Amino acid sequence: MIVLGLETSCDETGVALYHSERGLLAQALHSQVDLHRTYGGVVPELASRDHVRRLLPLIESTMTDAGISRDRLDAVAFTAGPGLAGALMVGAATGAAIAWALELPALPVHHLEAHLLSPLLADPAPDFPFVALLVSGGHTQLLVAESVGRYRLLGDTLDDAAGEAFDKSAKMLGLPYPGGPALSALARQGRPGRFRLPRPMLRSGDLDFSFSGLKTAVLTQIRREPDDEQTRADLAAEIECAITDVLAAKSLAALRETGLGRLVVAGGVSANSRLRERLAEGCSAAGHELYLPPPALCTDNGVMIALAASLRLQAGLEAPKSYRFDVRPRWPLSELAAESERVG
Ligand code: KG4
Ligand code: ZN
Repeated sequence: MIVLGLETSCDETGVALYHSERGLLAQALHSQVDLHRTYGGVVPELASRDHVRRLLPLIESTMTDAGISRDRLDAVAFTAGPGLAGALMVGAATGAAIAWALELPALPVHHLEAHLLSPLLADPAPDFPFVALLVSGGHTQLLVAESVGRYRLLGDTLDDAAGEAFDKSAKMLGLPYPGGPALSALARQGRPGRFRLPRPMLRSGDLDFSFSGLKTAVLTQIRREPDDEQTRADLAAEIECAITDVLAAKSLAALRETGLGRLVVAGGVSANSRLRERLAEGCSAAGHELYLPPPALCTDNGVMIALAASLRLQAGLEAPKSYRFDVRPRWPLSELAAESERVG
């Protein structure tokens, strides 16, 4: 079975062809970073227009790269939410139209489920059940993934997401968008230990997160300190430590509480090398297995959309859909299990 996957939920146009037995056939990704940089963040209307410009040529080039003609496709999948409404509409309309023209199933995919399943591309892939830490620009959640389509929420952020904490702190340090990778790069020049920021909710006794207080603490420190390069690097190092300490500690607590021995980490922030190191140390000390997506597949891409749709089809969760499409800018992952049961 060959699935064409389209991702347009935010600032990356992603396209991929995934074969259920042979794996990834081809993929293409266009990042809008240069387009939004002048504005210091994603401008939704510009994002939608750029997806319109890029999507069809990317689909063409991906099909050519894979050497696949249209009649070999078995399904077309697109991100239906959560994300920016206009940006989602581009992928949904394009995906549904291609599926209609080729008389194939059109499959709406939940963006976070796609992130969560992306470590299944790694070798070895994790078996279910596992604990998943989902850390993206808009979400910070701990879940138990029981099987494809069945996810139980263990903890969530009460305010900012981890990615947002990286992005907002980066902005305060005068770093360009996208802030997370820029802050992480600056942190490498920093000396840990010069500053001490709070680790919010570290000892809250539950699996929830809160990062908005950290933002205030960062701002207070920045105002107090001289504005030189080393100070900014030292602060960046401490910000990265504070965020990743909390993420790692809560993930290990979730493994203890559930008695599960496998941790899967996904979403843009899972590209962060300090987080990857922390989790590797913690999991190895406690005898847990850790699964991370390959770094290139941590941030948004079309591969995870095609993979998620393929896994859902194989699990018998997706009935062929009508060609009416809708997008859901807000769509809690926990609602997916109930919806899956209805179709499955
Ligand atoms: O999953 P993603 O690509 O898009 C959303 O679905 O939100 O995640 C984007 C987030 C941004 O907040 C970005 O700053 C963060 O992931 N991010 C990072 C790194 N790479 C991406 N944060 C810290 N370190 C990184 N290396
Ligand atoms: Zn994402």
